[in-house]
Amino acid sequence: MEQKLRQVLDKRIKSAQQLKQFRQTLIDGKGEKRITVSVCGGTACLALGAREIVAAFTEEIEKHELQVKVEFKETGCQGFCARGPAVLVGPQKIFYQKVKPEDVPEIINETVLKGNIIKRLLYTDPATNQEITYESDVPFYKKQTRLIMGTNSEIDPTNIEQYIALGGYSALSKALFQLNPEKIVDEITRSGLRGRGGGGFPTGRKWQSCRAAEGDIKYVICNGDEGDPGSYQDGSILGGNPHSVIEGMIIGAFAIGSHEGYIYVRNEYPLAVKHARIAIEQAMDYGLLGDNILGSGFNFKVTINKGGGAFVCGESSALIASLEGKVGEPKAKYVHMAEKGLWDRPSLLNNVKTWANVPQIINKGSAWFS
Ligand SMILES: Cc1cc2nc3c(=O)[nH]c(=O)nc-3n(C[C@H](O)[C@H](O)[C@H](O)COP(=O)(O)O)c2cc1C
Ligand code: FES
Repeated sequence: MEQKLRQVLDKRIKSAQQLKQFRQTLIDGKGEKRITVSVCGGTACLALGAREIVAAFTEEIEKHELQVKVEFKETGCQGFCARGPAVLVGPQKIFYQKVKPEDVPEIINETVLKGNIIKRLLYTDPATNQEITYESDVPFYKKQTRLIMGTNSEIDPTNIEQYIALGGYSALSKALFQLNPEKIVDEITRSGLRGRGGGGFPTGRKWQSCRAAEGDIKYVICNGDEGDPGSYQDGSILGGNPHSVIEGMIIGAFAIGSHEGYIYVRNEYPLAVKHARIAIEQAMDYGLLGDNILGSGFNFKVTINKGGGAFVCGESSALIASLEGKVGEPKAKYVHMAEKGLWDRPSLLNNVKTWANVPQIINKGSAWFS
């Protein structure tokens, strides 16, 4: 117990400066690891056999003693689920699709060790019949600006350090030490960000109402219920990059003056539940959640609440009833949730994707986003 406590205390990042230095240490620590191999471990790829591919890579990398040279990771959903299991070899991001365990020794021998492309594993564009080598040239990706899912292939979602190395939690640091709550709300308002849960309500306006609402206890809620059949966006974000959502929530909490938040996630998303839980624990250990975040004096904690799979519980007032332990039934909204929500306290409820956009807006600015 004492040892665990010491380990936890040692990991805590106590200032904006320490966060910056820690990020640099992580980047420098990569040293010789110039080659990356990312196997998609998202739900669809797992169903198609990704677990065996991860095992095969682990074995081959050990066999060839490539641990120092190759950065190997299992990631969340990389995006193009229909062509899974997906494997990316970096730094060029060579895209191999429909990979089988028996392909793995060849990927190591040919691509990782010699730089040769295995044509058999490339994606063929059905429109042009052309084989495509790099992920960025795949038409499915080429037509998108992937703000939210774009870094999933670079992050092991169970390792907070990989998120930090990519600039994670720098928006939180900026919000806490360079901005103030008013400026944060203003930035979100001017960005034009609209709720991604379906209704498209202007996010800044919602934040402003909740900030202005009277009350010393306020709640921040992330709607990850995603009951729509066949929709896997929120699950893929929570499962693939949970810290982006948590960072957004902490910034929102600071902006409205809340110290307690909930992630309501449907139980049929075991990966999202597991990874969000690990992310919360790690963020606590690193001093990015909990008391005195980054030495700022600001406190905020997040709890996960698993939804039972009722579609209607994605609706905000039904979700709140469910969080309160009642039957998840919607209520007529005579009073806005920003003033009277969870346990009748002012509550700021946004969708997973809405929260995940926040760190980027704070980092890059409202003009960039709009
Ligand atoms: C029947 C019904 C189901 C809904 N399901 C969801 C859902 O699964 N996820 C979600 O984020 N919003 C859902 N919504 C919208 C929410 O009520 C709410 O507007 C939204 O979560 C607010 O977040 P946003 O402003 O970030 O979009 C649903 C609405 C209705 C009427
Ligand atoms: S689960 Fe692998 S690409 Fe979506």
